[in-house]
Amino acid sequence: MAQDFADRVAALAVRYPDNLALQAFDPGWYASLTPALRARLRKCMNSGLENPDSQMGCYACQPSDYDDLRPFFARVISRYHRVSEEARHVSDWRLSGVEGLPEDGVLDLARFGLPPLSMRVRVGRNLADLPLPGAMSRADRLRLEARMAAVFDRLIARPDFGGAYHSLTPGHARQIDAAAYRRLVDAHIMFRPMDGDRYLEAAGIAAHWPHGRGCYVSADRAFIIWVGEEDHLRIMAMQRGTVLNDVFDRLRAALDLIEGLAGLRFAWSDDYGAVTSCPTNLGTGMRASLHLPLPRLTRGGTDTRVREIARPLGLSVRGIGGEHTPVGADGTVDISPSARLCITEAGILAALYKGAGRLIEAERAA
Ligand code: ARG
Repeated sequence: MAQDFADRVAALAVRYPDNLALQAFDPGWYASLTPALRARLRKCMNSGLENPDSQMGCYACQPSDYDDLRPFFARVISRYHRVSEEARHVSDWRLSGVEGLPEDGVLDLARFGLPPLSMRVRVGRNLADLPLPGAMSRADRLRLEARMAAVFDRLIARPDFGGAYHSLTPGHARQIDAAAYRRLVDAHIMFRPMDGDRYLEAAGIAAHWPHGRGCYVSADRAFIIWVGEEDHLRIMAMQRGTVLNDVFDRLRAALDLIEGLAGLRFAWSDDYGAVTSCPTNLGTGMRASLHLPLPRLTRGGTDTRVREIARPLGLSVRGIGGEHTPVGADGTVDISPSARLCITEAGILAALYKGAGRLIEAERAA
């Protein structure tokens, strides 16, 4: 039995050298595990086995997977994030002292001659006392949503938040219909249907869709919390503007507020910081992004040129429809610093600011 699985991994590993989970698998260590731990590892690796073209190829299914299956996870984490297997993550939101930023600490894209753009900063967070989304039962998903509803009620009651919670759960008191859901997706407020994502499907993360899924949106639509996507929570600040600090500071303040509310305890790892489903998001759990118009660099509808320039700047490029979407016809791309682990939150924001400046310079020179 142990041998069958190990053989399957070994056969795929030869054909898929870029799949980190396949490459990190150690048959000797696997054989040494108890049957229960072996089953847990198989579950974590399922998405990358079903989708061998994966880059990471695994998801944690319990907050404790990173500790209990450490030899495996330490290896994929160190290779993906290019850190040592002993690396420890440290969080820091203070911009002062970060290299290469304006004296006054205001990261204003207008300094590069840019107009107001869509800016967004999100963090992934998971509650410590529930399985991660890959292993949640339908009841767990509904419990998560119910617990968050109590938090949202308190936000809605505050003049600085207000807004509403929109549920996708059939029969939920706050359920929205298909058309309203579509409008929220089109406005980039709500996440896309998860049941069409082959990675999330194979990971068990898309199970019971759309039960227990929804999103809180503040009155000004600039503060959003997704419930039940790839992480229990994706908490974000989003608005059009040029000053990156506006979204960063708002997210920080809202996070502090939410963490102070009774009943929520997030999963943290001493070594890896915020515990997330996907090892790519560990650490800060943060993705800071901008929709940047680069019509010259994307001429012909391809982002190859942008990627070439963005990569050494530590930036990832995607279409504005989200992960795995192509560049839009108008040449607008979504750029974000790739690093999440062993970088500070402030470091991520700074990388976005500096990278945007370099990209717009390249666009003008093209
Ligand atoms: N599971 C996919 C892979 O391994 C996506 C990983 C990164 N994206 C994400 N949404 N976590 O390639």
